[in-house]
Amino acid sequence: MRLLVTGGCGFIGSAFLRLALERKVERLVNLDALSYSGRRENQAELEGDERYRFVHGDVADAELVRKIFSEERIDHVAHFAAESHVDRSLFAARAFVKTNIEGTLALLEAARAAHAEGTFKRFLHVSTDEVYGDLGETRGGGGDGVPPRNDDIFRETTPVSPKNPYAATKAGADLLALSYVRTHGLPLVVTRSSNNYGPRQFPEKLMPLVITNAILGKPVPVYGDGKNIRDWLFVEDNCEGVWAALERGRPGEVYNVGGENERENISVVKAILAALGKPESLIQFVKDRPGHDRRYALDSSKAKKELGWSPVVPFEKGLARTVDWYRKSEPWWRAIRDESFDDYYKKHYGKLGLKA
Ligand code: TYD
Repeated sequence: MRLLVTGGCGFIGSAFLRLALERKVERLVNLDALSYSGRRENQAELEGDERYRFVHGDVADAELVRKIFSEERIDHVAHFAAESHVDRSLFAARAFVKTNIEGTLALLEAARAAHAEGTFKRFLHVSTDEVYGDLGETRGGGGDGVPPRNDDIFRETTPVSPKNPYAATKAGADLLALSYVRTHGLPLVVTRSSNNYGPRQFPEKLMPLVITNAILGKPVPVYGDGKNIRDWLFVEDNCEGVWAALERGRPGEVYNVGGENERENISVVKAILAALGKPESLIQFVKDRPGHDRRYALDSSKAKKELGWSPVVPFEKGLARTVDWYRKSEPWWRAIRDESFDDYYKKHYGKLGLKA
């Protein structure tokens, strides 16, 4: 396998690079723009491996992507690169269109050309459960291990109906990718995963924001009533799902990759504070995110049946590993927060009319 990974300096992409190097790759190329959330240090220890090459560049740069394909004789792609933070997409949507849509297009075109020459084998497009929209009020679910009602869940056949600019650009990319199967015969597979968590997640997302704020003794902002529900998936479980789909997924198919672990935000926040030994008085309810999706839940039975994949890391273990990593990796997140993040955070709250 001569594999191009995009976004390998990000949270999920860097976990995937580690997994790929443990597997049978002959060549592994990571294309990453090192925008604010791409961190070179996330893959620094891999740079000594002779199978591995890091290319600093933009996935939307079609010429650069073509050059990498021909120079490296790429035959597989795992496309992670994306703008991914919903809150940012509310006031800076253009970057989402550029990276998520134009970036996907540049890759698809390069893969199409390689496929026409008979040298390309498989394109794995990483999508998200957010393309389905949301499930509204919980009926029968509610987190903490209570199973959702079976008829109230996203399946691969659920119509795509994104509700925020981030999700809309991911849906656009997802559908564009699938169109290349039908129109160009590109051997392409899509995974749609639920909320990932784990080491190296950029501290603007709920879990690392709460962990780092709590360590710093800062208030922990919970949007709205804190009862929005997400299905939490440990990042290594997602990477295994992506790998399985890359190797064994059927072209043209979509696979849901969910954690089977629905929780209300407030319960996640309380679990983190308990793990850190911090008081719940740090919790501050703030004004809700505009258009805030209420609940996501994924039926992953297709991936289980066809790919032989299942999530294996229980939430308590995954959370303990995550909290532990942030405790031990203070220089990593302190650098991010000092350099840009706290400024962004203030502006973001101002722009959304929230009070932190
Ligand atoms: P987030 O990590 O941004 O992921 P997504 O919006 O893609 O699900 O948010 C997870 C949930 O946590 C979501 O319901 C919004 C909520 N949230 C807060 O309550 N406070 C915060 O500071 C953040 C960043 C998120």
